[in-house]
Amino acid sequence: VTDLSAADLAIPVLGPSRYASPIATLLGDRRTSAHYVAADDRVLVDDTLAMASARNVAVADLPAFEAGGPRREIYFDPIHTRAAIVTCGGLCPGLNDVIRGLVLELSRQYGVNEIYGFRNGYQGMVAEAGLDPIGLSPDVVGRIHEQGGTMLGTSRGAQDPDRVVDRLVELGIDILFVLGGDGSMRGAQGIVDAATARGLDLAVVGVPKTIDNDIPFIDHSFGFQTAFSTAKDAIRAAHIEASAVPQGVGLVRLMGRHSGFIACYAALANNDADFVLIPEVPFRLEGADGLLARLRHRVTEQGHAVVVVAEGAGQHLLRRNPAQTDASGNAKLHDIGQLLGQRITDHFAAAGAPLVLRYLDPSYSIRSVPANAYDAAYCVRLAHTAVHAAMAGRTGLVVGRWHGRFVHLPIALATGSRNQVDPNGDLWLAVLEATGQPAFS
Ligand code: F6P
Repeated sequence: VTDLSAADLAIPVLGPSRYASPIATLLGDRRTSAHYVAADDRVLVDDTLAMASARNVAVADLPAFEAGGPRREIYFDPIHTRAAIVTCGGLCPGLNDVIRGLVLELSRQYGVNEIYGFRNGYQGMVAEAGLDPIGLSPDVVGRIHEQGGTMLGTSRGAQDPDRVVDRLVELGIDILFVLGGDGSMRGAQGIVDAATARGLDLAVVGVPKTIDNDIPFIDHSFGFQTAFSTAKDAIRAAHIEASAVPQGVGLVRLMGRHSGFIACYAALANNDADFVLIPEVPFRLEGADGLLARLRHRVTEQGHAVVVVAEGAGQHLLRRNPAQTDASGNAKLHDIGQLLGQRITDHFAAAGAPLVLRYLDPSYSIRSVPANAYDAAYCVRLAHTAVHAAMAGRTGLVVGRWHGRFVHLPIALATGSRNQVDPNGDLWLAVLEATGQPAFS
């Protein structure tokens, strides 16, 4: 049970809401139901009796998130409100869907007509970049959701938050939407802090973006389902290739720096994998119980085998170079796919066993595709939730869905830890059941 106080879950509010929301008529007299959380209700962090009881507090004191969704009164007067959007970090399916969802909701539902898109991530938010923001309207975002990528461009790395705030003030921006991963959300918190220090009325709302699904306290991130569905096709191809030849091994390397969700879900999606290797579960290569001997055994048994490896798996087997990080501060990883390919080849050769190795790395192709229908719908709902939060004067938060409910998460909570596959959890158990691989450790 994570120790969480009410303060950890509190969402900053710029001030009292004084304007009637144009959405109010849609709300009618809704109260909390099985499918709706009223704005004055809360969404519990815990969803089992054991977790809730372990906190030893009254029900009213259980940790809970502020509910996402429209408010009857809002903080910003839509006619005089200017909003801006920035996309940061690596690509993710659905970025364009979220941009479009934000623009359509702001303009059609709330009547906010001054909306801008900053170019190339935080880089484009400082005056020195010399990049003018793009004016966004329903026409401009018309069909962007049919394409992968981001119409605004993106980059890794932060900028001095004071210079970013200078630029926001210069442009008269009241609301900034940040679509990015954990590094970008830390950048967003820096902007919130700089704006607060100056007493500015700026709402900063994040929509967490990561194909790795590594943001905590959200059921899953947008684009994740599209990414693993695309990765699944590579596993199917590896299986077809490996089973078409004698003694075939299909080796598929997938993205997943510190979290192996893509590898697990892609492997479960078509159940063709014999071994799944993820960063959260160390494994041995050598010995009777090691991966290599077990792989050779599986190939002997069934004629072929498929190994799926997440890029962050098995880093303990590679030479460490801790000093190297990318512009987002992520550790640069060594190539586990190449190492495994070599070690599998060497092992089969040493044992005098024939081998046909097919190595597939779908790499960026799993995150540059357009969102599938599920993710597209999810993106729109996240965008609506983000607009409702911002218009109600909430700041320093990211929107997400927790146990099926849309909620507001303080940025610090979303960036304070990492969502990872739990080696004792039911997802990993499902992978072990589906593959028949041993626990290794
Ligand atoms: O963080 C998401 C991710 O897809 C990781 O799985 C991967 O390591 C990384 O992005 C690669 O992105 P880039 O080459 O843009 O840094």
